[in-house]
Parts: sequence; structure tokens; C-alpha cells
Amino acid sequence: MEQQPYRTAYHFQPPKNWMNGLLYSRNHSIYSLSTPNAEILDINLVKMITSATGPMYYKGVYHLFYQYNPYASIWGNITWAHSISYDLVNWIHLDNALSPDEPFDINGCWSGSTTFLLGEKPVILYTGSDTMNRQVQNLAEPKNLSDPLLIEWVKSSHNPLMAPVDGIDPKFFRDPTTAWQGPDGLWRVLVGNQMDGHGWGLLYRSRDFATWTRSKEPLHSSTRTGMWECPDFYPVLIDGKDGVDTSSLDKPTKHVLKASFNDCDHYFYASKTFFDSDKKRRILWGWILEFDHTTDDIEKGWSGLQSIPRSILLGKTGKQLIQWPVEEIEKQHAENVSFKNKELKGGSVLEVSGITAFQIWLYFSIADVEVSFDLSNLKEAELMHPSWMDPQLLCSQKTASVEGNVGPFGILAFASKDFTEQTTIFFCVFRSNDEYVVLMCSDQSRSSLREGLKKETYGAST
Ligand code: FRU
Repeated sequence: MEQQPYRTAYHFQPPKNWMNGLLYSRNHSIYSLSTPNAEILDINLVKMITSATGPMYYKGVYHLFYQYNPYASIWGNITWAHSISYDLVNWIHLDNALSPDEPFDINGCWSGSTTFLLGEKPVILYTGSDTMNRQVQNLAEPKNLSDPLLIEWVKSSHNPLMAPVDGIDPKFFRDPTTAWQGPDGLWRVLVGNQMDGHGWGLLYRSRDFATWTRSKEPLHSSTRTGMWECPDFYPVLIDGKDGVDTSSLDKPTKHVLKASFNDCDHYFYASKTFFDSDKKRRILWGWILEFDHTTDDIEKGWSGLQSIPRSILLGKTGKQLIQWPVEEIEKQHAENVSFKNKELKGGSVLEVSGITAFQIWLYFSIADVEVSFDLSNLKEAELMHPSWMDPQLLCSQKTASVEGNVGPFGILAFASKDFTEQTTIFFCVFRSNDEYVVLMCSDQSRSSLREGLKKETYGAST
């Protein structure tokens, strides 16, 4: 391969061409399902970005399906590409699982999810863009269940299973979630939608996974968003770190509802989770919106990557989700560069030497950074204003160059020698009642000197 310093190494990428599809998740809402109409406990908790399509674990193998253009490094001809792994880090690319070749998906096999039916049989529900460019929901099943690689998939003769009828706009009806089964034995699935200019999670029910009926009420809708892309809905344990199956009813759980919206304030887009039954964890993937000007994308021959898969669980407060890179990543660490007890005075920068050579030598950038800061001036932390509810917004207002009482401090990544290019991951500490609140931001506004690229600032708070 030509030397491409910005092509990543251990983030998942196909060898060439365009990829989208898993993860751009903006809002994660945590629900209590103790009442039939889910009650929202909190919203806007985690903000992320990605697009994976139907990840899963089957017979010892991790499968990643993703939105792929087999012919170019720009969006189009959308196909479900398929890769497998034994450790979530090293991937083997297989033949495409679903290609647009039937009237119900001829204009694209778009995002969807996998579900395990009884007897551990995995199936795919996905959106097809049909001959009239209507978005419809389709089913595909493995040809040979004893093949752990699940190489061949057969589309159902009943497709499409869900069509945009009864006032549903055919342009805004896509991305079915993993289905879950209620105590009544009925399967339920959410489909993303936009109606009256707002975002909706339409709820469908089915007894046999073939005939689906739309519920009168959506699971949820929001006047604050447009189209809901790649919704995700899954339980998290109230007490404990394990992940649970999407249909789990055994232990006390809350439910997370995530949707991706058509704006840009996120780390990754179209995220999806799956339950890893082997290691009893829920794993979240996201699509990183990695693209340049179209002409540059065509020239470099690839665009888009997946985030490092993360375990996701409910934090102790019960109101926030916590994510952490999967433990397998730690086995990839080759060299360790470390130092302790360095004093950082206001306005000063400390170079972490020993990493650059490693990067240049291998032509790619791998650096996991673990850092702890001791703050001597915590008492001076600014009082958090009650209107500062949205960490994302706060991060773009309090950019890395705006000085506060405690912060910003953090890491400058991909910094050029003269610091004209740098991606700043920074923190600010505030006080709110008797607690400290830490704002964490990733400020990409100075990540490239080139104009016209996406240079978002992302944020979250503890
Ligand atoms: C986001 C998305 C989905 C759609 C797919 C098409 O990842 O826009 O809503 O199904 O990409 O590739």
C-alpha cells in the first residue's frame, strides 16, 4: 500500500472504498420500562458518532456487517459488507453478505440489525431501497447455520415485510433495530422515521417474525430532532457490569434508547450495540465520519472507519452510560512510553517524546494515552451555570483556547511542530452544588489547515 500516514491501523477499515453504517449516536435516553409507556429518566446523556450495521457474536466468531460501496470511495451502491474476527481487533474480510439485486432492495441494502431467534438462529432485518426508491424493511437468513462464518445469506421470499403505508413517508422509514421479545411472546422492533418534521421510533410487533403490525403509538418521538437514523434499544443492568441480551427479563434493567440525527454534533454516527454472549458484555460500535473533499476521497481510494469497539454499561448514578474500549485492545500494546510527576504550569506544553518515531516508522498512528492530572486549584473551580446543560454546546463555546479557572488542560494530538494543526482533547472542571463536574471536549477546529472539512467539537460531562 502507498504510504498513507492518515490511514489508521487498528480501527476497522475495509481495504478500500467507502464505508458507513454503524454508529452516529447522538442522544442516548435511558428508560424505565416498569410502565407500559416508557418513562424517560434522562436524555442527552452520551454523545457519540458511527455507522455499523448488524454486529453480532455467533459460534465463537465476531461478525461485523457494514454499509459499503464496492465500486468507489464515495457513498453509493450500498451493500452489506461482511468481516469476521476472533478478537474484535484483527479482521478477515469475507464476501459481501447482501447486495442490491432484488426489486425490494435494488437501490441499496441499507442499515439494519441482527436478531437471534429461538434456537440461536441469527437473522438480518435491513432496509431496502426498492425500485421506486421507497424504504422498506426486509429479512435475510443464513443459508447454512452450521457455518460459523455465515458466509451466505438468503433473502426472504416474503420481502418486503414492512412497507411505508398509512401516511409513512417512504423517504424516512429505515434502520430496524435488533428485535426483542416481550413476556407475551411477541417480537418487537423499532424503525426510524420522520413525520411532521420530527423524529420517531415506530414500533412494530410480530408473532412469527414474518408478519409485522405497526403499533398505534410509537415507542418514542421527539420534536427536537429530525429523522431518526439507526435507532438502538437495549437493556442495561441497574446493578452490575455485565451486559444482557436484548430480550432479557431476568434481572432489573433500564433501557437505553439511542437515535442518530441529521446534524453534526457527535463523535461517531449510526452506532449499534450487540450482546456478546461469550464475555457477557454489550459492545457498542460507531462509524467515524472520516471524509475529505470528494475529489480527495476518490484519489486516496477510501473513506470512513469504525471506532474501536467499546463495552457499554450503566454508570453508578443510573443516569449515565459508561463506555470503555474492549479489553482485547490492551493486548495490542507493543511499546510503553511513560513518565510521572511532571509539573504543568498554566500555558505550558509538555511533549510526550518517543511516540512520533514509532508512528513514522510504521506509517500509522497508534497511541493509547492514559493520563492522570493532579489539580492543585480545584477550589477555584467556576460555578456551573444551570443553563449549561448541553456539554456539546459548552465545549464549542469553551474551546481549548478559552481560559477558565480550572482548565482547559489535556492532550494535543496530531500536533504539527508549530502547533498550527492540532486536535485538542481537553477538560474543564466546574462546581455544581457540592459536586465537581468535569467537562471533556474533543476540539477539532484546528485539526487541519485545509478549509471546508468537518472540524467539529464534541463533548460530554461526568
Ligand atoms: C446512516 C444511514 C442510515 C441508512 C444508511 C444508508 O448510517 O444514513 O440511515 O440506512 O446510512 O447507507
